[in-house]
Amino acid sequence: AATRTFSIIKPDATRRNLTGAVTKMLEDAGLRIVASKRIQMTKEQAEGFYAVHKERPFFGELVEFMISGPVVVQVLEGEDAVARNRKVMGATNPADADEGTIRKAYAESIEANSVHGSDSEENAKIEIDYFFKEDEIVG
Ligand code: CMP
Repeated sequence: AATRTFSIIKPDATRRNLTGAVTKMLEDAGLRIVASKRIQMTKEQAEGFYAVHKERPFFGELVEFMISGPVVVQVLEGEDAVARNRKVMGATNPADADEGTIRKAYAESIEANSVHGSDSEENAKIEIDYFFKEDEIVG
């Protein structure tokens, strides 16, 4: 069935004018952009979004990176949207990412890895609600 996932085009990608290129790869993978907005995250917003990682050694740098420039937050819809998006994103570390994935094509490092995508349907719901009101999502 058609489900939803949440995506972020990260500052390394917006900085290099790759919003369209990344979005095209998502669409070509069978995902529909049903909501999209370009925002500058606040520190509080980034810390809240990545709260599950707050004990990790890279948390501080991750938050600083995510507020270093604009991001594009999106809701994606499609068959098995979470898994479909994870497949087209590729591995977190671009060194491990398969050919044909967004991170293989564009990521600069494990931190500046161009995109975020929800890792489960449960987290997708939480992450979508964190950035969007239901009436901003138009299927
Ligand atoms: P993301 O899917 O946005 O979720 C957490 C992010 O932490 C991850 O992508 C990476 O960009 C970032 N990150 C930075 N350093 C590391 C690391 N050593 N291991 C895992 N993730 C990292």
